[in-house]
Amino acid sequence: AGGISDPGLITLVNKLQDVFTTVGVQNPIDLPQIVVVGSQSSGKSSVLENIVGRDFLPRGTGIVTRRPLVLQLINRQPGEVKTNGVKQESISAGQDKEANVDEWGEFLHIPGQKFHDFNKIRDEIVKETEAKTGRNAGISPAPINLRIYSPNVLTLTLVDLPGLTKVPVGDQPRDIERQIKEMVLKQISKPNAIILAVTGANTDLANSDGLKLAREVDPEGQRTIGVLTKVDLMDEGTDVVDILAGRIIPLRLGYVPVVNRGQRDIDNKKAITAALENEKNFFENHKAYRNKSSYCGTPYLARKLNLILMMHIKQTLPDIKARIQASLQKYTTELQGLGDSMLGNSGNIVLNIITEFTNEWRTVLEGNNTELSSVEL
Ligand code: GDP
Ligand code: NA
Ligand code: MG
Repeated sequence: AGGISDPGLITLVNKLQDVFTTVGVQNPIDLPQIVVVGSQSSGKSSVLENIVGRDFLPRGTGIVTRRPLVLQLINRQPGEVKTNGVKQESISAGQDKEANVDEWGEFLHIPGQKFHDFNKIRDEIVKETEAKTGRNAGISPAPINLRIYSPNVLTLTLVDLPGLTKVPVGDQPRDIERQIKEMVLKQISKPNAIILAVTGANTDLANSDGLKLAREVDPEGQRTIGVLTKVDLMDEGTDVVDILAGRIIPLRLGYVPVVNRGQRDIDNKKAITAALENEKNFFENHKAYRNKSSYCGTPYLARKLNLILMMHIKQTLPDIKARIQASLQKYTTELQGLGDSMLGNSGNIVLNIITEFTNEWRTVLEGNNTELSSVEL
């Protein structure tokens, strides 16, 4: 639902991954990390959660996210075990019951324990946050590492961060502003990071901490997307139309307005699907947005991210193609050297996979795929 889960993109990436592992190359495409920055309570965790399409992050008023959460999404087809790049179906369905449940989370600090209940994932994040920082608003730069395995996600990394804040409260250190800033800069400085600069639409864009910090590491705005949350909380008669039109602080990749769940929705455990429906209705029925509602909301943000990921893949394709051709050449020579008797299974399998792949993805590899060339950001 609304997530970064474009089936075409997932299929493409999986195929690339498979071909490469088959020819012995790990991680051919290193997809960008998506990192959220913004003031405390601007809605960062809510935005990430909507992008993933699952309910599992602690959210709320005050400083809830107090350690970085490095969330690795891992695409995994049901029943699939990847060993040495060769896909195998699990032999007996009953053998590993848990592995047959499609989606689960696993924390680095509790290896081997599979969390199928996403509410328990949230509880564990809260518990682990408190373990390192206490209950009283303390923060820590030590990340919590969580992996989510699912057939419905792209293999990429999302990073949730504590919000930028100026005045220490509770157990927070006096130099909290600097500490959080360093934590955030560390993540967004990576050239491979896509920055989601989150700003509440009910606050002044000129004071946006997220945008200010994003500009420090990405002055040209090549990899920063402005996300405007809380559009539903704006004063009657005000809207973000001027911001969207680039008349306030222009961003090359533009802004996307969203409506996340409010605190009452969270307290009432409103489902993510209901929240997305509510968001859609909001933009379609609001007089300021209804003529541009297809450019508003979480699904559009997810689509924008998909396109950016596509662009990234497209940029790496010449290299991928060269590596495939080199492998193909190497295998062909090796197989010829082995003689006919050895031209058995494994060699042929590799050749078949590569040939099939090349045929299937020729248009993409040659750079005239319509979907890719029509990418406009
Ligand atoms: P973070 O501190 O930046 O991670 O912000 P959270 O995602 O935890 O959200 C902070 C608070 O703002 C929560 O109570 C959310 O329910 C609320 N919130 C976030 N986005 C929106 C929104 O678009 N509309 C409304 N009404 N509330 C929101
Ligand atoms: Na918060
Ligand atoms: Mg948060």
